[in-house]
Amino acid sequence: MAVSLKVNIGGLEMQNPVTTCSGTFGFGPEYAPFMDLNRLGAITVKGTTLEPRPGNAPPRLVETPAGILNSVGLENPGVDSLITTTMPYLRNFQVPVIVNIAGNSLEDYQELAARLEGVPGISALEVNISCPNVKKGGMAFGTDPCAAQDVISGVKKNTSLPVIAKLSPNVTDIVAMAQAAQAGGADALSLINTLLGMAIDIEQRKPILANIMGGLSGPAVKPVAVRMIWQVSQAVSLPIIGMGGITNWQDAVEMILAGATGVAVGTVNFINPRAAIEIIQGIEGYLEQHGYQDVNEIVGLAWKRQQG
Ligand SMILES: Cc1cc2nc3c(=O)[nH]c(=O)nc-3n(C[C@H](O)[C@H](O)[C@H](O)COP(=O)(O)O)c2cc1C
Repeated sequence: MAVSLKVNIGGLEMQNPVTTCSGTFGFGPEYAPFMDLNRLGAITVKGTTLEPRPGNAPPRLVETPAGILNSVGLENPGVDSLITTTMPYLRNFQVPVIVNIAGNSLEDYQELAARLEGVPGISALEVNISCPNVKKGGMAFGTDPCAAQDVISGVKKNTSLPVIAKLSPNVTDIVAMAQAAQAGGADALSLINTLLGMAIDIEQRKPILANIMGGLSGPAVKPVAVRMIWQVSQAVSLPIIGMGGITNWQDAVEMILAGATGVAVGTVNFINPRAAIEIIQGIEGYLEQHGYQDVNEIVGLAWKRQQG
């Protein structure tokens, strides 16, 4: 019997647990030459703000031994372009679209939710309260539980879509942040965003990134992500989209066993644009090989087993 890969992330129905990490998959068309986008569980698009943003000055990308540091700074064409250009393109596919939103203030987030309400083809909002690369807003909301709760409840008031709170790993107590998002009415959580880092050019004797600091992603951050998913999934009842350093299906299965219901594929897209498809196939193969009929059977199994 074929295994079922279907998951429900806070009201968002996905045919399989795999989506893309915001900012690593463009708005969809960039990856269409490499795969049938319809095979994804969902597409999560680049972070969208009210106004177009040019992002930070270059250099804004540094390779590290097991990942990258980026300080892109939410470069995007703004919400009007998302509504008039991106969404008409994505409506050609049968794949749910998660729109990632970011703002400088509570009002920005609320207005974004209101502008996106009723736009055909959008299946969920992912609220980025965790960007380390913008001066105002961003991570400031994601490191203060009260501010996080306010942003999520503000967005909830202005949307009928499932709201996914994207949490920052740059905190000492990730469970407190998850509980605050839950108290604000979040339907699901995404974790993790990038870890704040920096790199120095030793010949020039100055920081490499023009923005000085950036967000670390890729395989280096995976153990941090697994640990946070493990902690949060036991503390709150919300479904989690796990991300951070997933490179292959084994990494994705590890995150599901830690407690993630969905997974998102990010930095690896830059070296293998078909990674998400290979990961869907790999998860299916793992379930078949181990005699599971439904991917939901293994969500959090690593800690459920310990308890059981
Ligand atoms: C170049 C780049 C741009 C990103 N842009 C966004 C963004 O706009 N919004 C957001 O919520 N996260 C953004 N992220 C974070 C990713 O969505 C993801 O949370 C993080 O990279 C961890 O996953 P990974 O290690 O698989 O890349 C970005 C990451 C990278 C590498």
